[in-house]
This record gives sequence, structure tokens and C-alpha cells, in this order.
Amino acid sequence: MRATVDRAGLDPQGRLPKIQVRRVRKGDLSKVRDVFEQTFGDFLERQLGTRPRQAFGGAQYVHHRWLMEPWGCFVAEEDNAKIVGAALAVTWGTVGILGPVAVLTNYQNQTIGQQLIRAAQEFFEENKAALQGCVTYPASPKHLFLFHKFGYKPKALTAVMSRTIDRTPPQAAVTKPSKAALAVRRFSALEETKKKATLARMHRITNAICRGMDLSKEVEIVDGLALGDTLLLERGRDLVGFAICHTPGVSEAPAGALYVKFLAIDPPKRKVEHLVEFVAALEALGQELGMQRVILPVYSRYWLAYATLVQSGYQIDFTMVRMQRGKQEDYENPTHLVLDDWR
Ligand SMILES: CC(C)(COP(=O)(O)OP(=O)(O)OC[C@H]1O[C@@H](n2cnc3c(N)ncnc32)[C@H](O)[C@@H]1OP(=O)(O)O)[C@@H](O)C(=O)NCCC(=O)NCCS
Repeated sequence: MRATVDRAGLDPQGRLPKIQVRRVRKGDLSKVRDVFEQTFGDFLERQLGTRPRQAFGGAQYVHHRWLMEPWGCFVAEEDNAKIVGAALAVTWGTVGILGPVAVLTNYQNQTIGQQLIRAAQEFFEENKAALQGCVTYPASPKHLFLFHKFGYKPKALTAVMSRTIDRTPPQAAVTKPSKAALAVRRFSALEETKKKATLARMHRITNAICRGMDLSKEVEIVDGLALGDTLLLERGRDLVGFAICHTPGVSEAPAGALYVKFLAIDPPKRKVEHLVEFVAALEALGQELGMQRVILPVYSRYWLAYATLVQSGYQIDFTMVRMQRGKQEDYENPTHLVLDDWR
């Protein structure tokens, strides 16, 4: 049996509205943000029984994503006048990430979501994204059905975890420190001429995790718009790992939190102590910036990374299921020390 279907957005004559899917334009940005806020607000209210004041706790998805990947952002417009849905997509090299996707509650179940996803799929094809993925709500038959239609298979859970920053040293810091001296630098502090070479070193790390994966755009947009910073974990001249961090304001960080969008330790150099030290450095940065929490998302197939966060005192705020399709569909190595968020 199907869940209650929302009232269709019929016009006074009972006709279905004319919907057109097109790319986002600059003038649409605040409307798209409202569509996401309103739709996810409605959805969460139905799930939780109360409406959150802000659907994403102050996190923003639209403006910087559009600047980063304008060709991957789509709206569904009714009669050339009203934006009723939107979908964002981005390519990390050969990996395409879909989401968020939203259709205003009164316009749902009229295939608008599918039209938006189809547009994003075409964008992935044009850009040769060999592996495509999204995260969704594992308990929703509608969501599983919808993404299945496009060939996405449910995989494992992504846990969005957090830890309150307090004055006591993080548990992680009291464990045995690694012998080799690691240092943390900020990407924003590098000379402009050094940034390109550092991006290439980061690409080598992501390429070793999944062939063709490249996070350069995410690093550059955080740097260019000062959405936060990218921390570089180094031993001498060697890049051991990096973490793309967002701080609240106009980024994907909710109010009061340092949010890590992506972190990776170079696979050949991976040691749990490196992740533990990196997490401690992130907490120190959060403390310095006056944040109350650090948010770390982790995909549970990166089992060692997940277990390390649990060990370091991180608790799960909520979970979503990752869905994937395409080549290298199950590329994750459970011992890789990676934290990534596909929202
Ligand atoms: C998810 C969302 C974008 C889908 O948009 P939509 O316009 O309603 O989707 P569509 O009408 O194109 O497709 C929905 C499909 O699910 C089907 N469906 C609806 N309820 C269902 C249920 N309980 N079980 C199985 N299938 C269901 C519909 O029949 C339709 O399939 P069909 O066209 O083959 O009949 C929309 O519901 C939404 O914005 N939800 C809130 C925000 C959200 O959850 N975003 C996605 C996060 S991953």
C-alpha cells in the first residue's frame, strides 16, 4: 500500500500545470533555497511530528554549489513563472553526486522529481561520471523506489556523527601519539603558486581511493568563497591527508558547528593514529573558531574510520542510506580512512 499522496498542484480548471526543467539561473538562487527549506521542512515535520525551525540547521546548499557546478543545477518551473522543484548535482572527477533533490509538497507524485533526476543523469553522462551516487532516507519506500527507477542500488548507511567540543582534551589526544611528527597547515595560507601543486597532491590521494575521483572543485570553492578551509596533514613535505572544512555562515555547516565535508588519509600511509590526530586538530580548530561541535560524516563501509570515530567519542546524529550505480560501484575499502558526505 502506498503512503498518502499529496494534493496535486492542479489549476482552478483541474488541469495539470505545465512543468519545464531547465538549468538554474542567478536570479533563481534564493527561490531554490526556499524550495529546499520548505520541502525538507514539510518532510521532516511529517517524519518527526514537529517542524524544525530551519530544515538544515542553518546549512546552505545552493549558492556555492551553483557557483561551483552551474551546469549541474536544475529547477522545475511551472508555467515559466514558479519554481516548484530543484536538483543539484556535482562531479568529483569521475564520481557524480546527486542531491539535494526536492519538489514542493503540493507538486509531488506528478513525475517532477523524475524529470529533475533525469536532467541530472544527463549531466553525469555529458561529464562522463562513471560512478553515480546519492544518499537518501532508508525507511522511505518512495525514495528507494524512485532512485531504483534510475538504477541506484541501496548500499550501506552513512552516519552523520558529531562531538561537542569541550575543554577536556578529546579522548583521541590521550591515546598513544604516533612517532613521526605530523603538522597541520591551512590551504588558505599557501602562496597562490603552491595551491595548484597541492591540489594535484590531493588528487593523487583521492585517485588512490577511487580511480578518477577528484575533489579539487570543493577545495577551490571553500578557498575562493572563504566557506571554511582545507586542512593539510603533512609529514615534512609529504601530504598525509586533507580535510575540507566548512564553517557556519553561507556554507554547508549548521550553526555553531565545524563541518567536515571530506577527509582522506593517503591510502599507502594510512594509520588509525593519523586519523585520530587529524580529528584532534579539527577539534582544536573548532575550539579556536568558537564552535560548539564538530560534525563528521562517515560511510559505514569505511568501517575502520567509523570505528575510530566511535572510539574518539563521536555519536550518530542521524543516518542515511547511500545509493550507487555505475562502474566501481563497490569501490570502498573498509580499511581506508575516509570521511565523506554525499548530501
Ligand atoms: C523525493 C521527491 C524529490 C520526489 O519527487 P516527486 O515529484 O514526488 O517524485 P515523482 O512523482 O517523480 O516520483 C515518485 C515515484 O514514487 C512513487 N511512490 C510514491 N509513493 C510511493 C510509495 N510509498 N512506495 C513506492 N513508490 C511510491 C510514485 O508513484 C512515483 O513513481 P511512478 O511515477 O512510477 O508512479 C519529493 O518527494 C520530495 O521533495 N521529498 C522531500 C525532500 C526529499 O526527501 N528529497 C530527496 C532526498 S534524497
